[in-house]
Amino acid sequence: MADKNPFPGENNTGHIWDDNIRELNNPPPRWWMIAFWASIIWFIGYGVLYPMYPIGQEPTKGIMGWTQIKEYQEGVAEVEAVRAEYETQLKGMSAKEILADPGLADYTVASAKVLFGDNCAPCHGGGGQGGPGYPVLADDDWLFGGTIENIEQTISMGRKGIMTAHGKILSEAEIDSLSKAIVDGKPMSDPNFTNKGCIACHGMDGKGMAVLGSANLTDGIYRFVPEGDQTLLESVKYTIRHGVNDATDPKSREAVMPAFGDRLSQDDIKKLAVYVHKFGGGQ
Ligand code: HEC
Ligand code: HEC
Repeated sequence: MADKNPFPGENNTGHIWDDNIRELNNPPPRWWMIAFWASIIWFIGYGVLYPMYPIGQEPTKGIMGWTQIKEYQEGVAEVEAVRAEYETQLKGMSAKEILADPGLADYTVASAKVLFGDNCAPCHGGGGQGGPGYPVLADDDWLFGGTIENIEQTISMGRKGIMTAHGKILSEAEIDSLSKAIVDGKPMSDPNFTNKGCIACHGMDGKGMAVLGSANLTDGIYRFVPEGDQTLLESVKYTIRHGVNDATDPKSREAVMPAFGDRLSQDDIKKLAVYVHKFGGGQ
């Protein structure tokens, strides 16, 4: 180390090696130092306010009394408050009015998802896609009508469409020709359809009647889909022979939509009606 600084006027510290390698005194920029000290103050302050220093068994609690669970509970309370506001509004409204208000309808759909999952999905599928023996709720083909009032009534009162078993009323040839006409989508082309009384329930045009829940036989959409290796024609014949919910025929098809009026509140039924209508097929 030199006795006298050989580089006068330079901001070196006086530490010099190998004649000319020197240590300079270049302080970091002011902004950097401010940020540096500020972060230390922040760190200490944070530790005073919030749980932090691991002293003893548990970290210090901090003077704010903040805990994760408290923050969570406050969050839940906030959500509840928003919900309560919607829920009070819903109480005074009909399902139809809810449907007409996009904000409320969205809220209803979101809040009825669990209700549908718990009560309806076991039969109708999570997305209302139906299944063997259970009608699709997500299309615009309805047995009992697809207006919001129809749907609400279906859920509240339940439904049970009844078709008489025709196995003993019709000849094999008549069942055969009726079934073929139906599979072709033209039930009216077979005179039996009128002569044997099918029109009494399925209508003059074969399109069904919502009050009876008699299926539309012209649209190619089947309430009862073939099972196993059964063909559609055989499945239709089966329906004609054994009917639906006909107590006099043990092989009759069963189709009962249970009533929810005594199991769910009116508000929940209203929400479910909106939910089902919003599957996209509501009329
Ligand atoms: C035990 C099975 C079962 C459950 C649970 C059930 N359904 Fe149904 N649902 C049916 C059957 C079967 C039918 C058809 C009845 C018929 O064909 O006569 C039906 C029919 C319907 C219809 C009429 C469809 C149409 O085309 O007109 C609607 C709407 C409906 N269900 C909604 C619901 C809702 C909403 C829930 C939940 C609250 C629910 N269902 C729970 C079996 C069920
Ligand atoms: C008493 C009223 C009634 C009469 C009469 C009647 N049906 Fe039906 N039919 C129904 C109802 C109701 C359904 C739907 C049942 C349900 O899903 O709840 C139905 C369903 C059907 C289906 C099943 C449709 C599908 O989507 O799977 C066929 C096929 C059918 N009827 C054909 C006939 C033919 C053919 C005749 C005349 C021989 C006839 N029906 C007479 C009430 C009747």
